[in-house]
Amino acid sequence: MRAADIQDDLSQILVTEEEILAKLDELAARVAEDYAGKDLLLVGVLKGAVMVMADFSRALPMDAPMDWMAVSSYGASTKSSGVVQIRKDLDTDLHGKHVLIVEDIIDSGLTLSWLLENFESRGADSIEVLALLRKPEAAKVEIDCRYVGFDIPNEFVVGYGLDYAESYRNLRDVAVLAPHVYS
Ligand code: PRP
Repeated sequence: MRAADIQDDLSQILVTEEEILAKLDELAARVAEDYAGKDLLLVGVLKGAVMVMADFSRALPMDAPMDWMAVSSYGASTKSSGVVQIRKDLDTDLHGKHVLIVEDIIDSGLTLSWLLENFESRGADSIEVLALLRKPEAAKVEIDCRYVGFDIPNEFVVGYGLDYAESYRNLRDVAVLAPHVYS
């Protein structure tokens, strides 16, 4: 759906579909150059990264298999504690692979911090991160993210994979959710 279809639920469009696709093209060109001749594996983190993975991987001018992780919180405090549980693990052996983790957003950074530590023991030749969005003001841990699409303010954003209570993932743009929706 488009922002115009649900305009009462949104207070501002932050990044349009056109801007997202142009940025992913740019990042894909950089990644292809950096990984030329290498065994690249794209790893998406469900569910938010589905849209980024779909568009980024198709923009990439080289072959790259993809795999998926599903992680979830142990409880309500998990987002702040950084403790995550694997709901679905990778199907791929990482030995000899150059792994690029594809994420929709780095918020506190805790999910990625945990994932990066988890991946370290799996024998990959390298591990890097691509994130479409990053909220610098929300960072609780520093993540070394090689490819960032857009730094955005610390607002409640939805769309392009990002949800509020599982809704709005299929919005084409990234937008700020109007406070009346969640308060
Ligand atoms: C979102 C997003 C990242 C994580 C970022 O996932 O996709 O994985 O939060 O937040 P952090 O930097 O504070 O750890 P979420 O747990 O909401 O699950 P989802 O992808 O299924 O929506």
